[in-house]
Amino acid sequence: MENLKDKALNLLKNNIKKGYSKNFKRDFFYLSPDSVHFHQWFWDSCFHIIVMSKFEPEIAKKEFETLISVQQENGFIPHIIFWKWRLRDRFQKWWQKEVNSKKTNLFTAEIQPPVIGISLLEIYKNTNDLEFIKENIGKVEKYYLYLKEKRDPDKDGLISIITPMESGMDMCTHYDIAFGNTKHDPLETKKHITRILTQYKEWNWDPDKIFESSLFDVEDVSFNTIYCLGLYALAELYGEFDKNKQETIKKWADNVKEKIVHKLWFEEQEIYFSLYHHGASETPMEVKTISSLFPLTLSIPNFHLNHLLTHLQNEREFWSRYPLTSVSMDEPSFGPLTDTRHIWRGTTWINTNWFLANGLEKQGYTALAKKIARKTLELVVKSGYCEYYDPFDGHPGKAMRNFGWSTLAIDLIDLLNRN
Ligand code: GLC
Repeated sequence: MENLKDKALNLLKNNIKKGYSKNFKRDFFYLSPDSVHFHQWFWDSCFHIIVMSKFEPEIAKKEFETLISVQQENGFIPHIIFWKWRLRDRFQKWWQKEVNSKKTNLFTAEIQPPVIGISLLEIYKNTNDLEFIKENIGKVEKYYLYLKEKRDPDKDGLISIITPMESGMDMCTHYDIAFGNTKHDPLETKKHITRILTQYKEWNWDPDKIFESSLFDVEDVSFNTIYCLGLYALAELYGEFDKNKQETIKKWADNVKEKIVHKLWFEEQEIYFSLYHHGASETPMEVKTISSLFPLTLSIPNFHLNHLLTHLQNEREFWSRYPLTSVSMDEPSFGPLTDTRHIWRGTTWINTNWFLANGLEKQGYTALAKKIARKTLELVVKSGYCEYYDPFDGHPGKAMRNFGWSTLAIDLIDLLNRN
């Protein structure tokens, strides 16, 4: 296991990007997800910070500061930040579709799952540096306020995402439904994504126009669960020096949790589903994906918990040889797996295993949490730290190698060692 830790640290250090950015006219320091994804990705960075806090907290802090330094006046923090162009980025037309070129082409106009509160808490747990927390907590809170104020058009307390990439689970098969792609052809979903990006670009990513159009307005289970976990993390941090503030943020988080439980639970199917909006109507996207299991990380009613545990452990649903699959195996949309770059359509990912193992441990399901941790580590021993894995044979196929957030597995070693 020590060997796994050494490898993780080496990998992360090899992905360090630093220097002076002509684009931003200031210094930067971050860890790229891997060698192909050269730039800074929001939730990847948040995961790197979580792992790095355990090894070398000073590096984690620097990455945190680089990320938060791009925060906009209204609280927004982008999903990809282009500190430095490489020649080959000129040919990367896809990322160019995701920027608001009227404003800037130095970062995308989208968001990613709000893991940042959890990252700040991890920095604190590993450093006890209250000064650092005090300096940064207001900025992080401002980001969550941005989500609350600008990304909740129906004001029900749940955040809407406007592209599948905002979920971090880009091509996950429940999004096919929001595009009317009931045959689950990944190429068709890709075409729809291109269409909405082109349209948003024409509208200069104006949120009013975007929400009015309902082209893609999704209240996603995993995104909102992470939002809620991030708020609980902030409340815990405020508890160190401002009890009133702690109370306010905790209430906010409780309210988000209540909304998840009441709006996204579907009694008949005994599972959570994300919703898509069309005008005033809201429709569940009835595909069982890893997103559906995320509320297991919150304290939800017992009968919800029991049903989710059954889905998670069912060998016909999420419990494959190398669990957890990103789409339930009994869904017609399950696959393709590792032989294409149509990602999140069934493969196993370490960041989602990490969320679920930690969440289950917190809810008192220690044995199951450890089982997930053990299986995850088995994958890393077999295939290394890859972007994703085949859930049956553990092979990474076309996945990126030396992938940063998969070092979250070393946090699962600690979970295994706890009583
Ligand atoms: C893919 C993943 C996304 C991640 C990015 C960089 O787009 O779906 O979650 O942030 O790669 O690793």
